[in-house]
Amino acid sequence: MATLPARYGRWVPVLIPLALLILFLHLNARFGDTRVVLQPASFPNENEAEVPPDPKSSPSCRQLPGIEDVLVVVKTGITESQHKVPVHIRTTLRCIPNKLIVSDFEEDIDGLRTLDVFRNVSQTLYSNDDFALYNRARQGGRQALTSEDHTKVANSAAGMMDNPGWKLDKWKFLPMIHEARAHRPDVKWYVFLEADTYPIWPNLLAWLENFDSNDKLYLGNQMMIGDHTFAHGGSGFVISNAAMHAFADFYAEHADEWNEITNNQWAGDCVLGMALAEAGIGLTWSWPHVTTQSVWEQDALGEGFGRPQWCYPPFTFHHMTPADVDQMWKFDQEWFSNENRTVLTYGDIFQYFIRPMLTNRLDNWDNNAPDGDNNADYRGPSTPASMYECAEHCARSSNCLQYRIDKQGRCSTSGWALRGLPKPGVASGTMLWRVDDAIKRRGSCGKPKFITK
Ligand SMILES: *[C@@H]1O[C@H](CO)[C@@H](O)[C@H](O)[C@H]1NC(C)=O
Ligand SMILES: *[C@@H]1O[C@H](CO)[C@@H](O)[C@H](O)[C@H]1NC(C)=O
Repeated sequence: MATLPARYGRWVPVLIPLALLILFLHLNARFGDTRVVLQPASFPNENEAEVPPDPKSSPSCRQLPGIEDVLVVVKTGITESQHKVPVHIRTTLRCIPNKLIVSDFEEDIDGLRTLDVFRNVSQTLYSNDDFALYNRARQGGRQALTSEDHTKVANSAAGMMDNPGWKLDKWKFLPMIHEARAHRPDVKWYVFLEADTYPIWPNLLAWLENFDSNDKLYLGNQMMIGDHTFAHGGSGFVISNAAMHAFADFYAEHADEWNEITNNQWAGDCVLGMALAEAGIGLTWSWPHVTTQSVWEQDALGEGFGRPQWCYPPFTFHHMTPADVDQMWKFDQEWFSNENRTVLTYGDIFQYFIRPMLTNRLDNWDNNAPDGDNNADYRGPSTPASMYECAEHCARSSNCLQYRIDKQGRCSTSGWALRGLPKPGVASGTMLWRVDDAIKRRGSCGKPKFITK
């Protein structure tokens, strides 16, 4: 792990704890749900508009051979479920035969009943401070939520320690595994997602064809806290039938011990990785099939771990708002409406979804270009710089694809090509002809690439 490529720090998350903290600090920090409506490739567009749900279109389900052997488990909580889950029920989960919404509160969400993941944990846990929200909701229902339950301020190095939903969340991982097995002991694959994770099902099924569910497998986006490598929860992860039974048996025998460990850790996905390792189940590093970032933050032309993303089919994107899910779903459906298409690669997504949205310049928009005067090699205009000076600076370096000016007038550039996200006071620009050149150099993929071990 000491020989990771330099780019890796931005894109591939076996991260030092600091970077993981940043991730959690950004958790839910997104404000607007407005996104650009999908347009035909020849029609770049700068007008933002909500994508309305389309009640007229109720297409039949595309054949997903193998999906009947998968249980999809979506983890949510009372403070977000009614806002984030419905969009999945009408899009990504609509054609999924085996699904389970696990939560800290049992309720109906558009006709699906959530499962209280803590219904069967040791009674002593209920007196843990972290369960205050759970106890309140169980007695008083939604009315028992307070405004404090909705704070999203990252007020500590280890995340939103004042947010009751956040503190409770780490406790869900181990019982969730147990409940998943109890629900469907016989399926080949258990897939765990969160409510802001976007799954691309044909890509998952094509990827899983490379594995045998009789092997003990734990597939996920590699992360590290201290010495512990684990699959990042929000990126989604997959557990094989053999691993599920080995682990659930192990956990049933050692539940109290692992409750104690959970109490002393702040990341539930990390505890799960530790427990799986203890049960003899190692992680298969699965980036870029599973990722921590939204589709707007992916550098499809880039690489990590020496792997160019271009020809890999992504299974997930994370930090997808309900509007993002709707928009991505539209593209996903359009793509797979051609029955000859078996997967959707990063290259396809970039060329046919992201590239048509890129423009020379966008105001109140952030493409995340990082290389500014924080960098020793910086030779750009001094702060405050104009957008024009920043563009000139980018143009002078042949591998610069994007640039931006932040609120302070600081110019920064990058060799990435991201769609980016709305951000007041920031202006972003893209060298479109270089992006098109880079697309040509990546070329077409022929066979898609998969991580198989
Ligand atoms: C509930 O807890 C009991 C005792 O720990 C255990 O034997 C059982 O398997 C659990 N059931 C589920 C669905 O987790
Ligand atoms: C799918 O492939 C077949 C055989 O190559 C072709 O005849 C057909 O037109 C294709 N369908 C679409 C929708 O592109």
